[in-house]
Parts: sequence; C-alpha cells; structure tokens
Amino acid sequence: MSSGRFITFEGGEGVGKSTQARMLADVLSGRGLGVVLTREPGGTPGAESIRELLLDKRHDWDVRAEALLFAAARSDHVEHAIGPALNRGDWVVCDRFIDSSRAYQAGGDDLSDDAILSLHTIGSYALMPDVTFLLYADPEAVAARLAERDGGNSDRIGGRPAPYHARVAQRFRDLAAMDPERFVLIDASGTPEAVHERVLRAMAPLLGEGG
Ligand code: TYD
Repeated sequence: MSSGRFITFEGGEGVGKSTQARMLADVLSGRGLGVVLTREPGGTPGAESIRELLLDKRHDWDVRAEALLFAAARSDHVEHAIGPALNRGDWVVCDRFIDSSRAYQAGGDDLSDDAILSLHTIGSYALMPDVTFLLYADPEAVAARLAERDGGNSDRIGGRPAPYHARVAQRFRDLAAMDPERFVLIDASGTPEAVHERVLRAMAPLLGEGG
C-alpha cells in the first residue's frame, strides 16, 4: 500500500506558495497518487470560518487570541482533513502550517516558540510535516508582486509594517536552520516553472528517484 507524505509550503506573503503547492499537487496526482491540496488558515469549513475572523480588519485580535485561533483552525483541519487523508495513505500538500504560527505569532510578535508548540500539541497532536519547502525571495520583488495581487487591499496580517514581516522572514530562516532535515530552502525568484523545477529536484528522493 502506498504511504502518503505530508508536505508543506512556507514563507512570507507573495512568494508564490499557493502556485507551487498546486503545481506539486498536480505532478503527484499525475503519477496516480492520492493527493489532497489544502491551505491554512482554512482547509475545512470550520477552519475557513475561523480564517475569516482572523483576517477581518474590524477585529483587533491580541497576539494570544490570534495564536489560539490559528491553533483552533489547525486542529479542525488536522482532525477533519489532513489526518484522515494521511491515514488513507494520501499525500497532503499544504500551503502554510505550524511553521507560519511559529514565524508570525512567535517571530513577529512576542510569544515563545514553546508556547506555540504547546498549543500545537493540544490542538493537533503535535503533527509535523515530513518536508517543508521554505520559499524565499528578494523583498522588493515580493512587494511588487503583492502590489499587483492585493492592490493595497492586504489582509489584517499581510498589511502589517515591513519590520514585522522582516522579523517573520528571519524567524523562518532560523526555523529552517534549526531543522535542516525537514526544511528545504527554495529560491522563489524566476518564473513559476523555474521554481517548480527546484521543488521537483528536491522531491526526487521522496519519490524514490534517488538524489
Ligand atoms: P495566506 O492566505 O496564506 O496569505 P498569503 O497568500 O498572503 O501568503 O495567510 C493569511 C495570513 O495569515 C498571512 O498573513 C499569514 C498569516 N498566518 C499567520 O499569521 N499564522 C499562521 O499560523 C498562518 C497559517 C497564517
């Protein structure tokens, strides 16, 4: 029986995570594998409702409430979508997961990494991905892409000032350095196809194709 893997894409806003997650999911399904493509915050009806609450600019969630809401959304997502998919032997490709909470709520704000991981233990059995692709790109190129995508209508978290996002980016790099077995750094510059090639090269061992 095939054994599925849990793959996540992480990084700041506008680096192309969603596109890369979709392209990888297409390749995996094209090989006849069972694949679930999903995202956070969201991925189940309950978690999508929490997403709306989290990103709504009318709310001024404190970082603790924010961390709890992300953890609650993730709990529902793991319980009703990711967990069942992995138990079936499907491959799960997820656009953001626990490392986003570690980078944004503990890196951009002042919660500790241990606090975020405790919430993850309570909410989601401390489930960790098998592989995490961390996409990074030049901040100026990202700003141009975001201006085109969001046209000044960024969400409650995306719209935070540049120093916040710089701390988040640094925290992502720190997490990757702390866990080089799980993280793969991907240069997100160039066309989506070029970035996809980088992801596929890194996937080769997982797909039993050698190094
Ligand atoms: P997302 O829709 O993935 O944004 P983008 O496509 O711009 O990358 O995520 C929405 C926002 O939620 C984004 O600003 C990152 C933030 N976020 C956290 O702060 N913590 C988390 O745990 C997750 C999953 C997302």
